[in-house]
Amino acid sequence: MQFVPSYPDKYQGIPEQEIFERIKAAKQKLASKVVILGHHYQRDEVFQFADITGDSLKLSMEAAKRPNADYIVFCGVHFMAETADIVNDGKKFVTLPDATAGCPMADSAKDKDVRRVWSYLQSVIGEFKICPITYINCYASLKAFCGENGGTICTSSNALKVVEWGFKNFDKVFFFPDQHLGRNISKLYGIPKDEILLVNYRKPDLGVTVEQLRKAKVILWNGMCPVHDRFMVEDIFAARIEDPLIQVLVHPEVPEPVADNSDLMGSTEFIIKTVTEAPAGSSWLVATEVHLVGRLIKKFSDKKIKLLGKPICMCSQMDRTTPEHLCWNLESLAEGKVVNRVSVETGIIKWSKIALERMFEITLLNDEANKLSGKSTSAIK
Ligand code: 13P
Ligand code: SF4
Repeated sequence: MQFVPSYPDKYQGIPEQEIFERIKAAKQKLASKVVILGHHYQRDEVFQFADITGDSLKLSMEAAKRPNADYIVFCGVHFMAETADIVNDGKKFVTLPDATAGCPMADSAKDKDVRRVWSYLQSVIGEFKICPITYINCYASLKAFCGENGGTICTSSNALKVVEWGFKNFDKVFFFPDQHLGRNISKLYGIPKDEILLVNYRKPDLGVTVEQLRKAKVILWNGMCPVHDRFMVEDIFAARIEDPLIQVLVHPEVPEPVADNSDLMGSTEFIIKTVTEAPAGSSWLVATEVHLVGRLIKKFSDKKIKLLGKPICMCSQMDRTTPEHLCWNLESLAEGKVVNRVSVETGIIKWSKIALERMFEITLLNDEANKLSGKSTSAIK
C-alpha cells in the first residue's frame, strides 16, 4: 500500500533543511501565541521543535498552563490533543499536525462497549461499589464516563497512586483499556493474582462467571499497546547472561512476565530521569518505544544502553507526524487559518474535566505525602 501523506501536495519534495527553516520562521512569527508540545515518542526531526516535551501526565498539566497561547500544537496522538482541549475548556485552538495519528489501544475501547460492560457489571454485581478507572490513552467520551460514575483517569506516572485511591474508596476497580498496565499496577499494590480478572468485552457474559466477577478485586479490559506488547521476557534472560550487571528498565505497558523480571518500571519521563542520573559505565536494557531509546543511546554515549529485544518496537502512530505536517500546521496558523483542530464536545468536556481534576488532586495529594515521608514520587517499582 502506498503511503499518502495528509498534508497538501505543495509541501512534498521540499528539502529537509528548508522545511526546518520554515518551521522556525513560522514559530517566530507566532511567538507566544503558540506552544508546541512534544511526546517522547516523536521522531527527532519533529521533537527538536517542541517547546515542552514530556510524558502524558506532564504534557496534560503543561497544556493547562499557557494563558497567553491561543494555539496548542500537539505533536503526539489524538487522545493527547483531546486532553489538552479538555483542560482548556475548549477555549484554545488545539491542533494535531497529522490528524490521522491515533492510538490502537484507545481504539480498543469504544464508548458503547464500555457502557455495555458497565451495565452488565451493575446488573450482576451491583451490590459492590465499583470504581471505573481509565488509562489516559482513551477517547474523551470515556474520560467523561469515568467522571460521571465517580471514577477517574491515570497515566503511566501516577497509576499506582490512582489505583490505590480506587481500592481505598471502592470495593472493586474496573480498569480499561490497558490490561497490562492494570495488571502490573494492581499486583504492585498487593492484589493477589487470583483476584485480578481479565474479561472479554466482545462476549455478552464477558467470558467469565458471575462468581468470578464477585471474587475479583480488579476487572480488566482486554486491550493493550501493540508496541509494548511485543517485548519478551526471554530477551531479558539472554541479556542478563551476557551482562549480569545490566539493569532492566521498563514502561508499565509491557506484559506481566517482562514487568515481573524488570528492575525498575515507570513512565517515559521516569525512564529518562533514571538513565540521566545513572553513573557513567552503567548498563541499561530499556523496554519502551524506539524513538525515545534511540535518543537516550545517542545522548548518553558514556553509558551502555540497549533496547530490549530484536524486533524494533516503534509506534507507527507517533511516527506519522513529520516536519512537513508541522510546517503546514504552523504556517497555516501564522496566516490565521486553523488546520486539524481537535475539539471535544462541551458536554463531554464537563465530565471528562471532572475526572481529570480528580486525577490531578490524587496525584498532587500523594506527591505531598511522599515528600513528607521522603519516598520517591515517580518510580512505580
Ligand atoms: P507516557 O509517556 O505517559 O509514559 O505514555 C506512553 C504512551 O504510550 C503514550 O502513548
Ligand atoms: Fe498507543 Fe502504544 Fe503508540 Fe502509546 S505507544 S500511542 S499506547 S500505540
